[in-house]
Amino acid sequence: MRVLGIETSCDETAAAVYDSDHGLLGHTLYSQVEIHAAFGGVVPELASRDHVRKLLPLIREVLQKSKLALSEIDGVAYTSGPGLVGALLVGACLGRSLAYALDKPALGIHHLEGHLLAPLLETPAPTFPFLALLVSGGHTLLVRVAGIGRYTVLGETLDDAVGEAFDKCAKLLGLSYPGGPELAALAERGTPDAIRFPRPMTGRPGLDFSFSGLKTAVRVRLEKGNGTDTFRADVARGFQDAVIETLSIKTKRALQQTGLTRLVVTGGVGANKQLRHTLKEGLEAEVFYPRPEFCTDNAAMIAFAGYQRLAAGQSDDLQVVADPRWSLATLKAPGNEKEQHG
Ligand code: KG4
Ligand code: ZN
Repeated sequence: MRVLGIETSCDETAAAVYDSDHGLLGHTLYSQVEIHAAFGGVVPELASRDHVRKLLPLIREVLQKSKLALSEIDGVAYTSGPGLVGALLVGACLGRSLAYALDKPALGIHHLEGHLLAPLLETPAPTFPFLALLVSGGHTLLVRVAGIGRYTVLGETLDDAVGEAFDKCAKLLGLSYPGGPELAALAERGTPDAIRFPRPMTGRPGLDFSFSGLKTAVRVRLEKGNGTDTFRADVARGFQDAVIETLSIKTKRALQQTGLTRLVVTGGVGANKQLRHTLKEGLEAEVFYPRPEFCTDNAAMIAFAGYQRLAAGQSDDLQVVADPRWSLATLKAPGNEKEQHG
């Protein structure tokens, strides 16, 4: 079975083909980051318009890379939530219509299910069950993954996502968007513990996160400082160390509480070298990462998740569904009752 995957939930337009016999046949991606950089964040209307421009050419390109004719696709999977509603609608409308024209099944996929299953595209792949630390620009979650569609959210952020906190602090430091990688580079030049920020919500039980107070602490410290390069690097270092130690403490706690021994780290912040190093050194777990281009948004993970569900006989009706607030908790294992949008 060959599944075309489509991802347009935020500022990345992507297409991929997953084949049940040969694995991933091809994937393409266009990042809109330059379009949004001037505004310091994603502008939803500009994102939707650019998905309209790029999606069809990317689908043509991925079919060519996969050496397939459109008629050789057996099903279409598209991200139908959560995300920006206009952006989601572009992928959902095109994916649903394409499947209708081909008389093949179509299925809306939960974007976070894509992220959670992305490490299964790698060798070695983690076996179920595993703990997933999902850290991206839009989400911060600890999830117990027992199988396809069997997800238990153990903890999540109560305010800013961790990538969002990196981006906002980077902006305060005068770095360009998206600031996570630039802040990480600046932090490397900072002195450990020269400036110490709190480790939010680590002093009480539970697995939830909160990063907005940390951002405020950074702003207040920057206002009091002298603005030299050394000072800015120390602030970046202090912020990054606080975030990483917080993630590490909560992840360790989740491993202890669940008894799980395998950890998957996924989402854009999973690219952070210091985070990887700290988790590797500090945790008694086997740690798995998707390859860097599948840590961030991509269509390979959507094609793969789509394949798992379409192959089990699940598909959507003709309605085009885009659900910006689709909850992960509503998902069911394939073969069970269909999940509920909204
Ligand atoms: O997963 P992703 O591409 O987008 C969402 O689905 O949200 O993650 C992007 C986020 C951005 O906030 C970016 O600043 C952050 O990941 N990021 C990093 C690093 N690389 C990307 N944050 C910290 N350190 C990095 N090396
Ligand atoms: Zn994402």
